Amino acid sequence: MLGLAFWGATLLSVPIALGEYVVPLADGSDGWSDAFSKAKALVSQMTLEEKLNMTQQNNYWPRVGEVDRLGYTGLYYADGSEGIRGLPFASAFDMALNGAASFDRELLYRRAVAIGEEARGKGINTQFGPGVNLLRVPEAGRAFEYYGADPYLAGQAAAEHVKGVQSQNVMAMMRHFIGNEQEDGRTFINSIIDDRTAHELYLWPFQDAVHAGVVSAMCAYNGVNGSHACSNPLSLGKWLHDELNFQGFVLSDYGAVFLGGEVDAANAGCDSVIGNSQYPFNGSMSTSVPFGPGGVLAKAIAAGNVSESRLDDMATRIAAAWYKVGQDQDFPPLVTGRNVLSVKHNELIRELGAKSAVLLKNEGTLPLKNLSYGGSGVFAGGQGSSYANLPYLITPFEALQQRARQCGSQVFGYFDNYNHSVQASYAAKANAVGAPCLVDVRQQCSEGYDRANLSASWEGDQTILAVAGRCNQTVVLYSACGPFNVTSWVDHPNVTAIINAGGAGQEAGNALVDVLYGDVNPSARLPYTVAYQLSDYPATVNPGDTVPLNTTFIDITYSEGLFIDYRWFDKNNITPAFEFGFGLPYTTFNYSGLSIQTMGNNIVSQAAPNASELFDDLAHVTVEITNSGSLDGTEVPQLYLGSPAVGAPNQVLRGFEAVHLAAGESQTVVFNLTRRDLSYWDTSIEGWTLPFGDYTINVGASSRDIRLVGKLSLSRQ
Ligand code: BGC
Repeated sequence: MLGLAFWGATLLSVPIALGEYVVPLADGSDGWSDAFSKAKALVSQMTLEEKLNMTQQNNYWPRVGEVDRLGYTGLYYADGSEGIRGLPFASAFDMALNGAASFDRELLYRRAVAIGEEARGKGINTQFGPGVNLLRVPEAGRAFEYYGADPYLAGQAAAEHVKGVQSQNVMAMMRHFIGNEQEDGRTFINSIIDDRTAHELYLWPFQDAVHAGVVSAMCAYNGVNGSHACSNPLSLGKWLHDELNFQGFVLSDYGAVFLGGEVDAANAGCDSVIGNSQYPFNGSMSTSVPFGPGGVLAKAIAAGNVSESRLDDMATRIAAAWYKVGQDQDFPPLVTGRNVLSVKHNELIRELGAKSAVLLKNEGTLPLKNLSYGGSGVFAGGQGSSYANLPYLITPFEALQQRARQCGSQVFGYFDNYNHSVQASYAAKANAVGAPCLVDVRQQCSEGYDRANLSASWEGDQTILAVAGRCNQTVVLYSACGPFNVTSWVDHPNVTAIINAGGAGQEAGNALVDVLYGDVNPSARLPYTVAYQLSDYPATVNPGDTVPLNTTFIDITYSEGLFIDYRWFDKNNITPAFEFGFGLPYTTFNYSGLSIQTMGNNIVSQAAPNASELFDDLAHVTVEITNSGSLDGTEVPQLYLGSPAVGAPNQVLRGFEAVHLAAGESQTVVFNLTRRDLSYWDTSIEGWTLPFGDYTINVGASSRDIRLVGKLSLSRQ
């Protein structure tokens, strides 16, 4: 592995020229030695053609690179972040963004184990995900596939996902590496990210996934600082391979190797490709095949432009991933139609949905006792390549009817989204008998495009206003794919409760009813900020990005730097409608007893550490949380850190825990702060540095509901 200092010097003096960079060969370090030696032995017996076969998939579905005579099964890839894409008899889980909203590591782990179990059950080798791009722009079309707007939260979620899926011997694949924060123009945008921002925000969750042992990565369509992500010596080479010492393999997104960039891709660290080479900057596919027998790579090896040792490295990395997750031992044969549905997973999905529904407002209407209902459809999840077919769908109306039957209440549904006068007249009738009115609205979101605005789809906002105009207990049930526009109705006096259910998958209705009736005490938190105005956000999708230019990249400069989402709102004193980390329970919690300890003595080296030392604990923060209400519930205390580093945001998330407490119960919660948590990326040395000085420790129930404040001092001794 090349040293960090070497790279610092190289970058400062000689910019890396495309085509000159050759990624370091995998060496079996960081816990890969066993898998690596087995892979080396396997690959040494392969022919050139067999190795090339491992590097290319043309048609999306078939198995890639099997070598029967050596017992290597090759890989079958499956898409999806809401479960397994497009296959029958598999579950439709909640969106990854819902997982983030749970702020619950144990739940995220169980979600991933279940997805891994289903993949394994069908004999799927590689289950795509976790997706860890950040919610930089609020309209981001694929935000539902990711873990929100904070790198720490995304990183923690990604680590649980990797551990869970890979516990089932299935490969996880982190993606889309890197800078793929919007969908519009995704194959011809060039994300320009400064060095510090790249490390403290966008690379951060990928680093957590690598630390958790992820065996594969998908490089993205977009450019990063001037060259395509799948042939990029800076992002693939320096960041992923040199700095993170990634020993697994990199797969291109579908067609994300561009015509003319195939050799650079091979040299920069792309190990395998799906799809043909794409024409640069215009979004269409050529007939050229980048890798595989007869492809551009094979010709480049013959001509000496790519070394055969690099091809060996590609094959070794892929085979090492296969050994690392144990697919050489009794892995089930592929049967895509095998039924992997189970009652256990149905129940889990219901639990995931309930524990990721964020209660944003409640002026006494919830939990419900009896009800009326006005609906406008249900949202199980976003669309695109992550979409899992629904084996069935419990709608809120169906679940409410079941509940009404059990508890002797009455429910009525009206489903015309556009007839606001009839909506209003039914609302008045419910109001006349003292029943609450539930308005179920949603956003439409998908891969492939960003949302045109943050409003509810199909006149949902008008429906809310029509009902709220006549019903003084209006409950808004909102299925959001990311930040959503609440401005026209949030402060309406008749809107007495708001729940953001996200996309909860096949059990969406049951999960919502569990929260509405208080069977589950809500505990989820917003993994992004909900602003009053679109212009309050630091960056939005550039509308010009939808027109391909055909000759060059369209630059998207991440000029807000470290200040996305709550960091921006805090810095500029902008009041949001609902802040990052916000969510109400039906009970109350007290915070007390903040105590802060540095680990060992207080002598801490500022020197740039190696990758694993970054995860050493340097400080512990403890607080006591008490359920001071009369209902059992779960609180999510959050730790926000203010760093003495120059240019640091006021505070950044560096800890959270979902703590279940019976009424009256107390528990001590410990947050571990690692060296990386306390460091900043020092561009002058191209490394993590621990600033000496005073850190502010804020512990609270959201980024703006800070209950306890303390100080941590680090100094040279
Ligand atoms: C998406 C990937 C997906 C691939 C294959 C692409 O359009 O960006 O996330 O894995 O298609 O379906």
